Amino acid sequence: MNNPNLAIIILAAGKGTRMQSDLPKVLHPVGSFPMLLHVLDTAQKLGAARRIVVVGPGMDAVESAARAFDGGCECVVQPQQLGTGDAVKAAKAALTGFTGTVLVLYGDTPLISDVTLHELLSTLEIYDVAVLGMRPRDPAAYGRLITNEEGDLTAIVEYNDASDAQRGVRLCNSGVMAVKGGWMFTLLDEVGNANAKGEYYLTDVVTVAQKYKLRCGVAEGREDELLGINSRSELAKAEYNFQQRRRAELMEGGVTMIDPFSVFVAADTVMGRDVLIEPQVFIGAGVTIGDGCHIKSSCHIEGAMIGKGATIGPFARLRPGATLEGNNKVGNFVEIKNATLHTGAQASHLSYLGDAEIGAHTNIGAGTITCNYDGFQKYRTTIGEAVFVGSNTALVAPVSIGDGAIIGAGSVITRDVPADALALARPEQTEKPTWAKTFRENNRK
Ligand code: UD1
Ligand code: CA
Repeated sequence: MNNPNLAIIILAAGKGTRMQSDLPKVLHPVGSFPMLLHVLDTAQKLGAARRIVVVGPGMDAVESAARAFDGGCECVVQPQQLGTGDAVKAAKAALTGFTGTVLVLYGDTPLISDVTLHELLSTLEIYDVAVLGMRPRDPAAYGRLITNEEGDLTAIVEYNDASDAQRGVRLCNSGVMAVKGGWMFTLLDEVGNANAKGEYYLTDVVTVAQKYKLRCGVAEGREDELLGINSRSELAKAEYNFQQRRRAELMEGGVTMIDPFSVFVAADTVMGRDVLIEPQVFIGAGVTIGDGCHIKSSCHIEGAMIGKGATIGPFARLRPGATLEGNNKVGNFVEIKNATLHTGAQASHLSYLGDAEIGAHTNIGAGTITCNYDGFQKYRTTIGEAVFVGSNTALVAPVSIGDGAIIGAGSVITRDVPADALALARPEQTEKPTWAKTFRENNRK
């Protein structure tokens, strides 16, 4: 849905001091993706004609994360961090001539949903300024929304500037605000900084709006969506809320989780029907799991494509570039990186398969290692279809094994093996008859 009358400004210039981090706050991940990307994604769902991210000077990492967003966005720099009102003003020049609704989102409030924002925007049918409020269990240091008898918003008071009576108000400011008809910058021009922090507060546009006889209203949202992240413990709370929501969505789509609380997924995790996930599984970014897969306990999976009917784990690690075509078996203590296992190929125990291609119905024996790295460069191992690789084989890449070949256990394979051949690369076995018996007798007293 496109909305030519909507511009969204995402504030992301704050220093995030309370995070105690070298990483800008909005790049801290929730569900394996930077918070900022969650907000950009939601902005895109609203179909806004303009998406503008306000960054601080020298925040190149934030800018490049924003620019890398698939849906596209603009970035503007707020030269000095003089407060949320000043941050919105940084987008003024970019919006010259825009007379639609300006919606402000915070980069540190990542879980807000498009549904909630639609509700906020619909209150603009009555009001000129709409603020998204919430009633958190612990109102803490949130700004308080002051309303009159009609329920109209008359002021937002920051916690530091609030009287005891105002601090007693449970209705809090989520930070999200929408202003109709090009009024945003007119109002902001009259906002000063005579307050506890000496900052230009966006929240003060509500007070200025009274002067112009504009009506300000509140839409209420849910605390778990509107949580603002300022510290590591709030980050953990957001992660908790995010996981709860995503697990529920996945289970609704036909996934069984024996212990949902111990399964962690990413914002982009895709799972088919009848996937069964055992306890203690971590899934990072870029994972697709096909119908009917069984992920056993204690697996770590990221950047992997798992086709239908695969069994993974327990204790398996799939790293970026692992592609399983379908009906594969990857067992305990198997690590796969940048490797494709074609249909029915399996590695059931104790293996490292990196930079490799493994043909359909090939069996990789216990303890097989693709030696893909010489300390400088990476090399590929290519294994054909229906190959049997015996246990404890080292495949020294670059090397390829033809279809139907058998590799004897304990081999160190350094040259290509032709199709249907038996390759043995290990010392011949020798026996010395009765040697052991004689040895024992000689050593007996
Ligand atoms: C703000 C609100 C408060 C609300 C709370 C909700 C104001 C004055 N206060 O307080 O009423 O309850 O959010 O979470 O708006 N930012 C900039 N440039 C700046 C300052 C901030 O871009 O100069 C950005 C930050 O990166 C952040 C957002 O604005 O994404 C909010 O700033 P923050 O300092 O966290 O505001 P709060 O004190 O949490
Ligand atoms: Ca905040």
